[in-house]
Amino acid sequence: MQRVVIIGATSGIGLQLAKLYTGNGDIVGATGRRAHLLSELEKQFPSQVVTECFDVMGSENIFHLESLIQKLGGVDLLIYNSGFGDISETLDWAIDKQTTLTNVNGFIEIVNYAFNYFVKQSGGQIAATSSIAAVHGNSQAPAYSASKAFMSTYMEGLHFKALRIRKKNPTINITVTDIQPGFVNTKSAKGKVFWQAPVDKASRQIFTAIQKKRRKVYVTRRWGIIAWLLKRLPYSILKKIA
Ligand SMILES: NC(=O)c1ccc[n+]([C@@H]2O[C@H](COP(=O)([O-])OP(=O)(O)OC[C@H]3O[C@@H](n4cnc5c(N)ncnc54)[C@H](OP(=O)(O)O)[C@@H]3O)[C@@H](O)[C@H]2O)c1
Repeated sequence: MQRVVIIGATSGIGLQLAKLYTGNGDIVGATGRRAHLLSELEKQFPSQVVTECFDVMGSENIFHLESLIQKLGGVDLLIYNSGFGDISETLDWAIDKQTTLTNVNGFIEIVNYAFNYFVKQSGGQIAATSSIAAVHGNSQAPAYSASKAFMSTYMEGLHFKALRIRKKNPTINITVTDIQPGFVNTKSAKGKVFWQAPVDKASRQIFTAIQKKRRKVYVTRRWGIIAWLLKRLPYSILKKIA
C-alpha cells in the first residue's frame, strides 16, 4: 500500500489516476480548487481518499501540502498534475501569468519540497505531467510550451540529482518520472487537436509508467515517435507548423 499525493485530481487525468491508485489498494491525497469535486471523491472512497482544497497559484502551497501529508500519515509518491494553458493569439498577459504561476511556480515549489522530503525519508517517487508541447516553442501558446519545457528540464535535473545522491548514499533511492502526453480527451486539450487519447487509456499508461519507475514517458506511445520527429525537423518546416 502506497501513500500517493496527486496535485490536481479533481478532473481529467488526475481524477482518473486517483481512481487507478484507489483500485490498486493505495491511499490517495487529492487536491484541486473545486471543493465539491474533492468531497465527491472523498465520499466515493471514504477509507482511501483524503483531500486538501487549494490553488497552486496561491502563497500557501507548502502549508496545504504538509497538512495533506499529515492526513495521509506520510507520502511515498507525489504526482504534480495541476496544469493550465490556453491559446494566446494576442500574447495575453493574463493567460501567460496563469500558465506560469500554475505550471512553473506552483510546480517547482511543491516538487522542490517533495524532493527534499524524500531525501530526509531516504526514498520516494516524484512524477509530473508535462506535455509533448515541451519539445518546441509554440506560437499559439508560447507560455504553455515554455512552462512544460521548464517542467521537463527540472524533472531531468532532479533525476540526475537523485542518481548522484544515491551514488554517495546507496540507502537514498528517489525516482523521478517525466510524463509527456500528446492530446488527451479532457477540457485542457485546446487548439488543433488530433490523435486524442481517451483519458482512461492515457491515465492507465501513466499509471504503468510510474509503477515501472520510468524516467520519461510519452503518452500515448505513438507520441514518442512524434517527439522524435519534432526534435529533428529542419527549421524551414518547423517555422511553418510551430
Ligand atoms: N489534455 C491534454 O491534451 C493534455 C496534454 C498534455 C499535457 N496535459 C497536462 O495534463 C495535466 C492534467 O490536465 P487534464 O488534461 O487532465 O485537464 P483537466 O481536467 O483540466 O485537469 C487539470 C487539473 O489541474 C488542476 N488545476 C488547474 N489549475 C489549478 C490551480 N491553479 N490550482 C490547483 N489545481 C489546479 C485542476 O483542478 P481545479 O480546477 O479543481 O483546481 C484539475 O484537477 C495538466 O498539467 C495538463 O497541462 C494535458
